[in-house]
Amino acid sequence: MIPYGKHIIDEDDISEVVKVLRGDWLTTGPIVTDFEHGVAKYIGVNEAVAVSSGTAALHAAMHALEIKPGDEVIVSPLTFAASANCIVYMGATPIFADIHPDTLLIDPESVIHKISKKTRAIIAVDFAGQTCDYVALKTICEEHNLKLVGDCCHSIGAKDEHGNSAGSLADISVLSFHPVKHITTGEGGMALTDEPELAKRMRSFRNHGINMDASARSEKCTWVYEMQELGYNYRITDIQCALGLSQLKKLNNFLKIRRQHAAKYKTLFLNHHEIKPLITKKDALHAFHLYIVKVPAHKRKAAFEGMRNQGFGVNVHYIPVHYHPYYMENFNTGPGLCPVAEEVYEGIMTLPLHPGMTERQVDSCAKGLDAILKTCP
Ligand SMILES: Cc1ncc(COP(=O)(O)O)c(C=O)c1O
Repeated sequence: MIPYGKHIIDEDDISEVVKVLRGDWLTTGPIVTDFEHGVAKYIGVNEAVAVSSGTAALHAAMHALEIKPGDEVIVSPLTFAASANCIVYMGATPIFADIHPDTLLIDPESVIHKISKKTRAIIAVDFAGQTCDYVALKTICEEHNLKLVGDCCHSIGAKDEHGNSAGSLADISVLSFHPVKHITTGEGGMALTDEPELAKRMRSFRNHGINMDASARSEKCTWVYEMQELGYNYRITDIQCALGLSQLKKLNNFLKIRRQHAAKYKTLFLNHHEIKPLITKKDALHAFHLYIVKVPAHKRKAAFEGMRNQGFGVNVHYIPVHYHPYYMENFNTGPGLCPVAEEVYEGIMTLPLHPGMTERQVDSCAKGLDAILKTCP
């Protein structure tokens, strides 16, 4: 089976991890800080807080922005549930805004319609690997005094049409290092910001709400610390960050291969009457975490099964979050809330795309889909 996404771990990644295993600090040590500095520099932000997952980073972002029960936060429905769950963790209400049918990115016009007196923030999801319209979203945030969070779990390495890096375009941006993402730490995530106060709150939040972690206490030769607010254990280990640092060196090459494969798919599907790739924004740089095509909705299920049966690990990203039973039961969501996302969902399919694939495999996935669609009634 050619999976839709997969990590690449080489011997040099392994030896970096082994070095940490032989050292003194397995967690909250210097390699965590090195990884934070490495990612902050790559993206061009002042502060990076590494945590145990992208979900933990989203939760930390909500905490730092002081989202409270009774607040509303606007989010895209076509995303992984974690983008909305972080709002619920704070006792707040997720409000789903619709997406643009061509890019599947949150539609600023729909966001405006969903703003109420209770709205405190917007979570923009850089779906599939291209940046949302942060210029429009920032203008909305300034007009309505809202905070902006970028869920950039798909978009490390992307740039917007003005040359600005994904991860540097919101008050807080969030990355994931899950194995299907561009670079991996096994599990892991990071919250990025230019505001030291937000970074400080997120650092404390990842460590139970304690103001000084073990390495800071060791450096200051003190046992004293204070738990100033309620936090969690969202720490990431030096073992994981050693892998992350080693992977970071390869990120540009991984991105290059992803972009080459995406370009190949695009050429193969050019003017295809049934397979329509998503629109990529002109002058922007896509990170291609996912390669998504639209196929005729009535053929999607048969095409999905046909592809899987032939060894092509297709997937569907995503079931709209407001369709999940938890949201329907607790937030009274359901069909009709976001018509564009709902219609698009019926016909989307994710094709395999990762740097371990060969061009021939891209070719066979594309030709496989074309052949299977011809047999679908
Ligand atoms: C858009 C998006 N947000 C958040 C997450 C959560 O990241 P993690 O799996 O690292 O918790 C993911 C992971 O798949 C994601 O795709």
